[in-house]
Amino acid sequence: MTQGYTIAVIRGDGIGPEVVREGEKVLDVVSELENFELHWTEYPHGADHYLETGELLGEDTLKELKRSDAIYFGCIGDPRIEPGILEQGILLTLRFYFDQYVNLRPVKLLEGVRTPLAGKRPEDIDMSVVRENTEDFYVGIGGRVKGKGRGRTKERLELKRNLYQITFNLDIETDADELAYQIGVVTRQGCERVMRFAFELARARGKKRVTSVDKANVLTHGYGFWREVFTRVAKGYPGIEPEFNFVDAICMWLVKNPEWYQVIVTPNMFGDIITDLGAMIQGGLGLAPGANINPDGVSMFEPIHGSAPKYAGKGVSNPIATIWAGALLLETIGEMDASKRVLHAIEAVLREGKVRTYDLGGTSKTSEVGDAIVNQIRLQG
Ligand code: IPM
Ligand code: MN
Repeated sequence: MTQGYTIAVIRGDGIGPEVVREGEKVLDVVSELENFELHWTEYPHGADHYLETGELLGEDTLKELKRSDAIYFGCIGDPRIEPGILEQGILLTLRFYFDQYVNLRPVKLLEGVRTPLAGKRPEDIDMSVVRENTEDFYVGIGGRVKGKGRGRTKERLELKRNLYQITFNLDIETDADELAYQIGVVTRQGCERVMRFAFELARARGKKRVTSVDKANVLTHGYGFWREVFTRVAKGYPGIEPEFNFVDAICMWLVKNPEWYQVIVTPNMFGDIITDLGAMIQGGLGLAPGANINPDGVSMFEPIHGSAPKYAGKGVSNPIATIWAGALLLETIGEMDASKRVLHAIEAVLREGKVRTYDLGGTSKTSEVGDAIVNQIRLQG
């Protein structure tokens, strides 16, 4: 009997639908050639659905999604909606509900793509970023406290003014001593499981080093703890060298010596930041995929770019990040050969250089890139 998988699709906002369509096209072809079936179930969630119904992502939908083998996700974000609502109500809800504690983001320069780092070649830029995906500043603990009184407000601002020699108009009618705080949380279990994943990944791929990112020199409580757990987890992997980098330093070294890095494990927020940097050194956001993985549950695959409302509906966006995310999906459900075929086809299309979207200096349409990748898959036979 042919193996079948149920894949939930949330195309989302902006360019989401058009890039995911190409991903589905590629995955359909490769599944047919590799003799397994993909049953797509579509979900309308995103900005339009929210504006029409007021629903972000309800418990019933989450329960239904739980029955799928994987989730294929486009992107969310819409200028009509205040930032944070869709992000928290849909994307982060999915990551947290399914406890997708690993955010795996390959940073790999493919042949035929130009990196802004002069002289770096595909063999120099090839690493995996393992971003912790359920904790840190993303837990959403925080609040705002209103200012307490005009007198105190004024005093404090005067003092600051003297200190910094700044002159400005002091409007004591405002709540100048109102404050906002946001708390990051890391747990032992949360750190351990993502760190083990990073070491296991290194071992499986024959890598020799895992770099941990933190800011333990300033945020000593949280990231000092992260560092302590990392040191302990590393002891279980004697053949792999553990290394620490501060987050500011790694931003510098990733640009200067990307070839140094093999597997990077990082707290959630630093991971968010350094994978955008990673996307650029691999040639741009149009190429960068991400996998939200729960090794024992439902995982979700997405391009790491946003919904790019400016380009929505134009059919010009690069679908490669989404198609590559589809290859990661196939790898995670155990269809290794199909996954490799998709990646090889992406590589072949980029190497050839004839069909490419505007972000890579070409004029091709989104669907032409999808078609070219499909043709390559068929050619590989
Ligand atoms: C990402 C995105 C998300 C994040 C946003 C949209 C919530 O930037 O996947 O990197 O911060 O994780
Ligand atoms: Mn991000």
